[in-house]
Amino acid sequence: MARKFFVGGNWKCNGTSEEVKKIVSTLNEAEVPSEDVVEVVVSPPFVFLPLVKSLLRSDFHVAAQNCWVRKGGAFTGEVSAEMLVNLSIPWVILGHSERRALLNESNDFVGDKVAYALSRGLKVIACVGETLEQRESGSTVAVVAEQTKAIAEKISNWDNVVLAYEPVWAIGTGKVATPAQAQEVHAELRKWLKDNVSAEVAASTRIIYGGSVNGANCKELAAQPDVDGFLVGGASLKPEFIDIIKSAT
Ligand code: G3H
Repeated sequence: MARKFFVGGNWKCNGTSEEVKKIVSTLNEAEVPSEDVVEVVVSPPFVFLPLVKSLLRSDFHVAAQNCWVRKGGAFTGEVSAEMLVNLSIPWVILGHSERRALLNESNDFVGDKVAYALSRGLKVIACVGETLEQRESGSTVAVVAEQTKAIAEKISNWDNVVLAYEPVWAIGTGKVATPAQAQEVHAELRKWLKDNVSAEVAASTRIIYGGSVNGANCKELAAQPDVDGFLVGGASLKPEFIDIIKSAT
């Protein structure tokens, strides 16, 4: 089965309600390929999720940027998977490198989060990626395989998972991976899935790229056979996000 192109916009910790409304209105007016061709998911900060969901066109969807690892309760400051389900938020981003680095989220913890979110019925954008130091020491594939393994060990169904390869050195730096660099890691991740999960999961799981994607570099990246879309940070706050969505065709 063909893998439908996926474009996620991670707004990170940005925006006021006025700015959010402006971004949504730009998205709503855009002419983009149909939902059959590209799946578009935007991820505003938690506090804006209901607003964005209520205003956003029906062919685009929303994602939370995180959720708690287990059922909610006495966990001050956290947002549970149950709450996202209650608000009909279909997607959640988990394991983003900013959380792995700044909040010490380990591979195991991310694996647990992915498993719990899936068990509640959420769809998950699960992020993996190496630091510059790890790339320079030649351990890129080992690092992303280890991160993927920690997820694979805890889930049995990959239907609702999109794997996002986001090299840490490319995030927010303007230093995008070359199409060849992205393709190489995506192909390795697909091979890992084939060898360690199944040929079917390897063939059907979308592996998207994130890290300084913009309107100018998206076309060439999108043309790579194992690049099934993007997780976009900075450029998802700008009108060029539309061009990135259009790179699906
Ligand atoms: O989740 C998105 C990534 O962190 C990429 O961010 O496009 O600003 O480099 P960026």
